[in-house]
Amino acid sequence: MTTRTTVTVLGLGPMGHALAEAFLTNGHPTTVWNRTPGKAAGLVTRGARLAATAADAVAASDLVIVCVQDYEVVHRILDPAVDALRGRTLVNLTAGAPDAARKTAAWAAEHGADYLDGAIMTPIETINTPDAVLLYSGPAELYERHRPALDALGGTATFLGTDPGRAAAHEVALLDLFWTSVAGMVHAFALARAENISGAELAPLAKGIGQLLPSVIDDHAARLDAGRFDGDLSTIASAASALAHIVETAETDGVDAGVQRAALALFRRAVDAGQGGDGIARLAQHL
Ligand SMILES: NC(=O)c1ccc[n+]([C@@H]2O[C@H](COP(=O)([O-])OP(=O)(O)OC[C@H]3O[C@@H](n4cnc5c(N)ncnc54)[C@H](OP(=O)(O)O)[C@@H]3O)[C@@H](O)[C@H]2O)c1
Repeated sequence: MTTRTTVTVLGLGPMGHALAEAFLTNGHPTTVWNRTPGKAAGLVTRGARLAATAADAVAASDLVIVCVQDYEVVHRILDPAVDALRGRTLVNLTAGAPDAARKTAAWAAEHGADYLDGAIMTPIETINTPDAVLLYSGPAELYERHRPALDALGGTATFLGTDPGRAAAHEVALLDLFWTSVAGMVHAFALARAENISGAELAPLAKGIGQLLPSVIDDHAARLDAGRFDGDLSTIASAASALAHIVETAETDGVDAGVQRAALALFRRAVDAGQGGDGIARLAQHL
């Protein structure tokens, strides 16, 4: 039998709970702590040790995972426990801004702790399954050292480099894509409803639109990286015209069009700059 690394998990919201469960399932002796200790009950039944304080939880393991609401909460929990962190590794899987990750890495170094930042890009039900997607950044040697334990979380883990803010930077860009797409989806269904189109009627066609995105993403990324802004496939002027129809229809139907107006304003900036014949890659320069 191999000995599994002892792990501490701070934070037992839905995600922290799933992480602790994955470590337990994979045979890691696991200590947990949460502001609301009652959330540990099921984990304790499965063999986790519930620490009385965050400092006790940190002291219990060389590898400490924190996954709470945001970086402010990370510091609220760990600032008072900082002495216990000395000589240990903190892996912060809390979502946040890249700058907050860099500052937390510097704070950890100041207090003699090793620090790896991470981002979880998939929902809780993917943890400990092949569908989990995790991103990490920080010292490469640290990632390699803790990889066998972190593998308990399942799925694909990608190490993105030594800048501790790089995982969070990827996460923020990906969440930008996701949530602005979701805002567009919510608006599309509201607009359809105003035109007496039910959710069930629009959904199959809406999924077809979603399926266009992967090739649009590949094409956009390649053009951006190559500095190619020509409108050989589609132009900014054409897209601005489509957006104008969306805004007009929404406003006729009494549906708020604030988000779509903001998008139209971006496209129009390029048109006003004489770039209406260029492709949408050009828009990056207007951001
Ligand atoms: N849920 C997902 O599917 C998912 C997916 C990807 C990434 N994430 C990220 O994972 C992180 C954790 O998410 P989550 O789903 O577990 O839920 P969450 O609501 O973002 O975080 C809940 C955790 O934060 C703690 N907390 C909040 N305010 C606190 C405070 N003032 N002092 C001490 N602890 C505090 C909660 O403690 P109490 O239990 O005591 O309230 C709980 O442990 C987030 O950064 C989230 O963006 C989540």
